[in-house]
Amino acid sequence: MLNFLPRAERPSVPPLPMDSRPKVRISRREGFNAAHQLCDPVRSDEENRRMYGKCVNLHGHNYVVEVVVTGEIDPATGYLMDLKQLSDLMASQIIETVDHRNLNTDIPWLRDRIPTAENLAVAFWDRLQPHLPESSLHTVRVYETEKSWAECSVDD
Ligand code: NI
Repeated sequence: MLNFLPRAERPSVPPLPMDSRPKVRISRREGFNAAHQLCDPVRSDEENRRMYGKCVNLHGHNYVVEVVVTGEIDPATGYLMDLKQLSDLMASQIIETVDHRNLNTDIPWLRDRIPTAENLAVAFWDRLQPHLPESSLHTVRVYETEKSWAECSVDD
């Protein structure tokens, strides 16, 4: 039954400890267009074709990158982080470098990785993490199509 006693007459309830309070997260989504092909340079054409099917051919995607940041709300601003700052960071560390590029050949920090969505998520995490407050980066999710994504994430 609901308690309609005036606030002053209710028994006082201690505040929840910090770690059982609901977590606050914010997210920013940005897009870029790029080309890639899935092939492992140490394998034969035939093996690559067997493993990756038609993805061995150079083709493009309209990628979407979604970054989730967690932390405490700053009482002074009401923000966990200014999303414009997160957007600028995604632009400078990821989007401006990869947009309209060939992910297999054009990006020094993607060399030696087969540019699957999984590997992109890990590489993008490594680009962002040093520039964010410690332990604040929660998830980097890369959509290769509307139906498929891969993410790099911390456990809750
Ligand atoms: Ni593809």
